[in-house]
Amino acid sequence: MTAKHWLTHNASGSRRVVVTKELPGERWLRRLAEADCAVEVCMSPDIVSTQEIVAAIGGRCDGAIGQLTETWGRELFQALKAAGGKAYSNYAVGYNNVDVAAATELGIPVGNTPGVLTETTAQLAVALTFAAARRIAEADVFMRAGRFHGWLSTLFLGELLWRKTVGIIGAGRIGSAYARMMVEGHKMNLIYYDIERNTALEQYVAEYAEFLTRHGEQPVTCRRAASVEEVFAEADLLSLHPPLDPSTHHLVNAQRLSLMKPNAILINTSRGPVVDEAALVEHLRTHPDFRVGLDVYEDEPAMKPGLADLPNAVIVPHIASATSWTREGIATLAATNVSAILLGYPVWQKADISPFLGDDPSTPLRAGPPRAAPSIVNARELGLPAF
Ligand code: DGY
Repeated sequence: MTAKHWLTHNASGSRRVVVTKELPGERWLRRLAEADCAVEVCMSPDIVSTQEIVAAIGGRCDGAIGQLTETWGRELFQALKAAGGKAYSNYAVGYNNVDVAAATELGIPVGNTPGVLTETTAQLAVALTFAAARRIAEADVFMRAGRFHGWLSTLFLGELLWRKTVGIIGAGRIGSAYARMMVEGHKMNLIYYDIERNTALEQYVAEYAEFLTRHGEQPVTCRRAASVEEVFAEADLLSLHPPLDPSTHHLVNAQRLSLMKPNAILINTSRGPVVDEAALVEHLRTHPDFRVGLDVYEDEPAMKPGLADLPNAVIVPHIASATSWTREGIATLAATNVSAILLGYPVWQKADISPFLGDDPSTPLRAGPPRAAPSIVNARELGLPAF
């Protein structure tokens, strides 16, 4: 293994924070500099191993920002604790790569970055939906190969997504945003499954239905399904938004795929292992009118054999949150989680995280961010004070 290059920012800082990947923008570095942190950033695009992170933490480290591609388990939290570490933040909203129980046991707050990527991720799910429904990726390859010899009434016939049924598994922030985009934009009926009822979403759709009625249009409907199976069977289009945990591992399997309509569309922007990818490859092979849009993979970054050869799969490399604004915002929230804990600030408990993103000198909000950590997932267990 060749040694990776680490770059130090604000070298004179009295605290030390390790960041396992280069992050976009400058604002996150300012947040850590304001907390008097020297910031050591791994400049390699390759995944950093546990061993390399332990070495980077070394004998003195106050905090760390890690990536969803790394396993932040007991070994890393023990190394951080032994080095005097007091804070960790994932550079992501999802934290299935983090052993929160181990961190809590060791007294280390774990941050994540909700709110800043909701619309961005939902929009990529919408983009994949239409890329799959309208066969955009196939048509693009066709054009580039010089195979377009004139308009044809039968060329790349796809699916019209209008007044059909959109299914959602997981009606949290991103799932609800996606649902609203599809319901409002394309007048689709909604069926969702979530262990918790989402009354705000239900009310939103109900009010939209009243609006349509007032305008002489057919209303849309919203229903919380009693089982995952109901959603698979009824949806023309199904988008996955659950967190990855043992209960959602392989939530999409051969049996549930067999319940879906032969021309249905399945979208995954959540986590790869939510889908049994080998079963999906087999289903796509045997159901050529079934289409899928994938942002995440079971053995990421690898794909299961055969997936890349299937024309009915649109595949992109985990880019759902990849807009400059969002990725800079994620960096800012992660850095603020760490800097706020190091400064002894309380924990923000409101869903709206925008006050943390408004201190750019070019914006009118010059007052600076709230003196709080935006999102600490084990705040309650650690008894951290609320803002
Ligand atoms: C997250 O934040 O969990 C995303 O997967 C990163 O885009």
